[in-house]
Amino acid sequence: MIDNKRILFSGMQATGNLTLGNYLGALKNWLTLSDKYQCFYSVVDLHSITVRQEPSELRKRARALLTLYIAAGLDPEKNCIYYQSHVSGHGELAWILNCFTYMGELNRMTQFKDKSAKHADNINAGLFTYPVLMAADILLFQTDVVPVGIDQMQHLEITRDIAQRFNGIYGDVFTIPEPYIGEVGAKIMSLQDPLKKMSKSDENPNASIYLLDDPDTIIRKCKRAVTDSEGMILYREEQPGIKNLIDIYCACTNKTPEDVVKEFDSKGYGEFKMAVGESIVSVLKPVWDKMEKLSKEKAYIDQVIKKNGEKADYYAKKTLRKVQKKVGFPERIS
Ligand code: TYM
Repeated sequence: MIDNKRILFSGMQATGNLTLGNYLGALKNWLTLSDKYQCFYSVVDLHSITVRQEPSELRKRARALLTLYIAAGLDPEKNCIYYQSHVSGHGELAWILNCFTYMGELNRMTQFKDKSAKHADNINAGLFTYPVLMAADILLFQTDVVPVGIDQMQHLEITRDIAQRFNGIYGDVFTIPEPYIGEVGAKIMSLQDPLKKMSKSDENPNASIYLLDDPDTIIRKCKRAVTDSEGMILYREEQPGIKNLIDIYCACTNKTPEDVVKEFDSKGYGEFKMAVGESIVSVLKPVWDKMEKLSKEKAYIDQVIKKNGEKADYYAKKTLRKVQKKVGFPERIS
């Protein structure tokens, strides 16, 4: 608890171009939860270097992502928005937790398997222990709730396992976090293969809507979305392409799938796809406008980075000192 509020932590990688999946699966929920919890939202740049990055590009993207958090509507006075690399506790706790995590557990992580297949020339130890760093992120703040998309559930489970194992040995050190999965948009699928997750790293640019795509591109990608030959707009597994578009439309308009099925009863796929594209544009338009405005406010963003980095560091150190003491590191002399 901080100021009588339960604690929320989440983060995004500043790698590649953020997609509509990141927005609807995560960021949109962050906005609705932000008043209820004491929130920490990190730009997780330590995670980003598990895949080779161009340094100047990473720096630029990290800043753009931090600005995007604010542009999307998170107030940095109330939400602690900061760079993971500015808080050394993340790396320090990750090292300790590495010593409480088994190789067998990490070997089972599907994201590790996928990423090592994709980056076969660079299967580094960081990629393998990635979930431990993620556990450190969460446990460092005594987090109660972690809003994520479904693809991160396995990482949340291992975080809970590590925390319970540690607590089992040393007493109640860590709060055991709960995942928070939004009702809609928790798994936005590729527009070109609706059985696959929409992903930043998809080679086909038509498969993903990027948050910084212009309106024409968004509409064009929706029009080209792979559907089926059923000719009916129904919300069911047999029509994964249409189902995904209904999910996107619901997440953008706050309607339910039943509303949408009624609304487009006896209408064609063309008309529906157009409506989906327009609903995405109207959700993103205010974000683009605010982004544009904030990109000119360098001093303001710098001050957010400094102030919130210090705040995150303060809370991180509290947990870290407790953990260091528990495992038997010598006390600091002040
Ligand atoms: P990342 O950067 O891949 O994704 C950020 C968030 O977006 C969600 N997401 C999706 N949701 C719905 N549909 C999709 N197609 C889709 N694609 C991505 C993800 O579930 C995630 O919530 N390892 C994490 C970042 C991280 C983190 C953390 C998250 C590091 N430490 C601690 C929570 C807590 C990641 O790579 O997310």
